[in-house]
Amino acid sequence: MTSFGFIGTGHLGSMLVRKFVQMEAVDSGDILASNRTPEKADRLAQVTNIRISTNRTVAELSDVIFICVRPLEVADVLKELEFLLTPEKLLISVAGDVSLKALRELCSSRVVRAFPSMTSERLKGVTLLAFGDNATAADRHLTSQLFRTIGEVAHVEETDFEVLADLTSCAPGYFAALLREFVLAAKCRGIEEELAERLVKETFLGTALLLEDESFQGLITSVATKGGITEAGVKVIREDAPAMFDRLFLATQARHDQVKKRTVLAER
Ligand SMILES: NC(=O)c1ccc[n+]([C@@H]2O[C@H](COP(=O)([O-])OP(=O)(O)OC[C@H]3O[C@@H](n4cnc5c(N)ncnc54)[C@H](OP(=O)(O)O)[C@@H]3O)[C@@H](O)[C@H]2O)c1
Repeated sequence: MTSFGFIGTGHLGSMLVRKFVQMEAVDSGDILASNRTPEKADRLAQVTNIRISTNRTVAELSDVIFICVRPLEVADVLKELEFLLTPEKLLISVAGDVSLKALRELCSSRVVRAFPSMTSERLKGVTLLAFGDNATAADRHLTSQLFRTIGEVAHVEETDFEVLADLTSCAPGYFAALLREFVLAAKCRGIEEELAERLVKETFLGTALLLEDESFQGLITSVATKGGITEAGVKVIREDAPAMFDRLFLATQARHDQVKKRTVLAER
């Protein structure tokens, strides 16, 4: 029987526990979790029936340990547990900007990086996966199977993680921000904000469903008839959006570089 540990029960850690239990990917009796502020872990235990303990006990008693703390907190957590994180254990880190190489240096467990998306709350979206050179075929299988219960998985090169995380994990925030601007532009034209938000949300959900079996270009072609209104709007997006998305990738890359510099300092 495999036992699972979760260190950090914040937004992502608690979502993973709730969804893995709900999807019966893991039995709640096989999960032990810890959190810096114990009350938060207690609240999760109340809704999932998992057991709560300290970081040390979680590391000691679990075969598979999920590290769900923020990037700058990873080094401290792993240093505290270093003597427990042996090669018999599998460590799955969801922290951005902490490389497989850094994880290998901080402990001797087998290591995997997973980058899930909060869209797994609705069993949709993609978890990016990259495996340490000490991860076994069984580790790859187990990790992929687990995350497949709460959405799609993509095995990717670790070097692509940052750009791909923009497309998967950050994208729900970007889509919401874009749609909010759409609503505000309608408000400037005299439409009540609440009404505009309701209409855009419903249309967005319908669009997402159409995209289940249609490419972006296919959908554009079917909505934007030649010489019609939608075509005029699509032309504006094609002219203005490339510069905006280019700036978005530059801004997120700069932020990754800052965090990576600070995580390297934290590892020392
Ligand atoms: N949120 C997302 O959409 C998302 C997506 C992909 C990956 N991630 C990654 O997931 C990680 C967590 O993100 P999050 O959004 O869940 O952040 P969060 O809500 O701040 O959760 C982090 C949790 O870690 C706990 N913690 C901090 N230090 C600890 C320690 N020494 N021992 C035990 N627990 C400790 C915190 O406890 P307290 O209650 O005391 O604060 C908090 O509950 C990050 O590394 C992030 O890069 C997040």
